Amino acid sequence: MRLADAASLKGISKSPNEKLVIGLIGCGGMGAANMRNLMNFPDVEVAALCDVDDARIPNDLRDVEHKYGRKPDVYKDYRKILDRKDIDAVIVGTPDHWHALVLIHACEAGKDAYCEKPLSHDIVESVYMAEAVKHHKRIVQCGTWQRSTREFTDALDYVRSGKLGKIILTRAWITDGFRAGHQKPTTPPSGLDYDMWVGPAEFVPYQSNRLHFNWRWFMNFGGGMSTDWGVHMMDIALLGMSRDQDLVMPTSVSAYGGQWAITDDDRNAPDTMQAIYRFENPDFAMHWQIGLDHPEKEGHGTEFVSADGRTLRVWRGGWKVLDPGGKELPKEEAAPPPDHWRNWVDCVKTRSAPRASLPSVAQTTIVCHLSNVALSSGETVHWDNKKQDLVGKAGRNSLSYHRPYRKGYKLPEYKPA
Ligand SMILES: NC(=O)c1ccc[n+]([C@@H]2O[C@H](COP(=O)([O-])OP(=O)(O)OC[C@H]3O[C@@H](n4cnc5c(N)ncnc54)[C@H](O)[C@@H]3O)[C@@H](O)[C@H]2O)c1
Repeated sequence: MRLADAASLKGISKSPNEKLVIGLIGCGGMGAANMRNLMNFPDVEVAALCDVDDARIPNDLRDVEHKYGRKPDVYKDYRKILDRKDIDAVIVGTPDHWHALVLIHACEAGKDAYCEKPLSHDIVESVYMAEAVKHHKRIVQCGTWQRSTREFTDALDYVRSGKLGKIILTRAWITDGFRAGHQKPTTPPSGLDYDMWVGPAEFVPYQSNRLHFNWRWFMNFGGGMSTDWGVHMMDIALLGMSRDQDLVMPTSVSAYGGQWAITDDDRNAPDTMQAIYRFENPDFAMHWQIGLDHPEKEGHGTEFVSADGRTLRVWRGGWKVLDPGGKELPKEEAAPPPDHWRNWVDCVKTRSAPRASLPSVAQTTIVCHLSNVALSSGETVHWDNKKQDLVGKAGRNSLSYHRPYRKGYKLPEYKPA
């Protein structure tokens, strides 16, 4: 019997030495980076790789063969991996527009997962993904690995301990100067199943500058920087203001911006965004910004501002506490957190919630999409956390709220009770 099945059926913990057999869905990019991290553990084995583009497979195949002394099985259709009884878990490393289908199908096949962020392409997908994970009792770690790095855990400990005092404002930001350039539609390369790459998204002709990595700046496949980096940086703001992984959620969001700076380019994600989120009980505001300049700050980061004017700033690589005049104040460091990927493997074995458990990162992903909903609809949108839905009509027509799937694809509906 598969490790994950045995554990969830019997409700028991598994022996620490038992091997977790995994398959990678979406090679070449961050999915492969996750796979390499997991291959460092003696109790993990990679059995299969899957990608719709043959060109993305050779490097990953070579490394897996080198590590285990045998070739992994290779597939173009992820459902072939999900059919395999000997595979316990999958890495979901596809572009965002595929996450919901692959992850929900994996849950239905009884697989645990390491799923990349942002979780979804729209809000409704995130809600259904969280429900599917709970319904099928799957252990899913998400790619928000900052939840397991020292600067962020130290900064969060400091904020949550109350040392910064009452927090009235959080800020998160990212710099975005990406250009995709211009390209004309061409015939897809022969090894790429382009129709499958587009999957549930609206079909558009093949253009190589919309494909690997670049897709995040095309709203048909990604959500721009609000989801790509927002899910990292706003996640920290939300965690700091929450007691545990069940995050505080905003009651309303307004946004202003657009594609104003990088206009002569095929990308269509906003390069400029000023979004304001309102939270109640406790009352505070969150400011999210995409822009071209962030002088005297890192290119990305999260800040907490207290009622007495102190600021805690954290970014990849460090954190500091500043007085209202900008003078650095003493800070404290705690014990280092566990490795993010190791934490997932351990949680799969003990059937406990990992540090970036999917239902929690689904909340952050919804918060990120809300800025795109507010921007694309031009309306202030309101969120009902109990119903896990927008309030009223505002924002409901936005594709970032819910986008129709292409003919032939259907999102399984896991509606909250
Ligand atoms: N956690 C992080 O820090 C981090 C960093 C980078 C990317 N990411 C996330 O990782 C995911 C992948 O991003 P990337 O930059 O590696 O993208 P990428 O385009 O480089 O790689 C995605 C791969 O998935 C393949 N693919 C597409 N549809 C597929 C399908 N149906 N079945 C199998 N394979 C399919 C593509 O052909 C491609 O090889 C995204 O969700 C992204 O947001 C996370």
